[in-house]
Amino acid sequence: MISGTTKICGVMADPVEHSLSPLMQNFYAEKTGVDFAYMPLKVAVEDVEAAVLGAYALNFVCMNVTVQHKQQEMPYLKEIDEDAKAIGAVNTLVRMEGGYKGYNTDAAGLLRAMREAKIQLAGEDCILIGAGGAAKAAAYVLAKEGAQTVTLLNRHVGHAMVLAEEINHRFGRPVMTVLALSEYALLPKKSYLAIQSTSVGMYPHSDHAPIEDPDFYRMIHTGVDIVYNPMETKFMQYVSAAGGRVMNGFTMLLYQGIAAFELWNPGVKISPQIVEEAGMQMRSRLKG
Ligand code: ATR
Repeated sequence: MISGTTKICGVMADPVEHSLSPLMQNFYAEKTGVDFAYMPLKVAVEDVEAAVLGAYALNFVCMNVTVQHKQQEMPYLKEIDEDAKAIGAVNTLVRMEGGYKGYNTDAAGLLRAMREAKIQLAGEDCILIGAGGAAKAAAYVLAKEGAQTVTLLNRHVGHAMVLAEEINHRFGRPVMTVLALSEYALLPKKSYLAIQSTSVGMYPHSDHAPIEDPDFYRMIHTGVDIVYNPMETKFMQYVSAAGGRVMNGFTMLLYQGIAAFELWNPGVKISPQIVEEAGMQMRSRLKG
């Protein structure tokens, strides 16, 4: 029930119609008894500045911003959390005196999802496919958690070089190297943890994977796909067929939302049972 004291929150995105965040966040509010309401807010990229300033003037307490807006709104924030600065993208805003503080909960969501799945990162040889926004959060998590090596495979080597240099500089060790996606056969023959962070294979293009060679997948002991629709991507099918373990991006999506909810409502914890119920509701809404 919305009253005069309800904390008003929302997700700024364009398109926003398919966002699962309103369902997820309102469900957490209902289950934890927090007086909180979360709305979809369609905001075009060119209106991000006006929208962030307007939301603050309207006393919105917390906000999510999705992919296309993640970097745009950074100049209009009062403060940016260290992890979000390092990743170079903000997806969660928390109201403070004089403006919003920006956070990135994608990295926290991915880390928590991998921990829950008992996927080890320290000392691992890793492959990261893609060098976009999602890859940045993944690269940051891998380097921070002590991966031994991360080979970045990307279609455009230039994009990958920028990300690898940033990460190596930030962590003060040459953890990341770059290879063109087409040169995957040059990878040293080892057993890898691989994270797929491109949009290749996402619904409705579910019959694609970034690499279509079964030999490549024989080197992968665990394959994590950031994509969650479909729940089993073609990348995951290749990894499974070669005997590896798989995880999709659904738990990451769930946990980045929980990390945001817990930032907005200090002291409130989402129990594993609520996580499970939220997951079931969200799954039933996915297309494809
Ligand atoms: P996001 O923020 O969701 O990660 P993005 O920043 O647009 O999205 O990044 C998309 C990533 O997917 C990039 O690494 C892109 O490769 P390039 O840097 O070479 O453009 C990758 N990507 C997108 N479509 C691809 C395709 N058909 N084959 C291979 N890589 C693709």
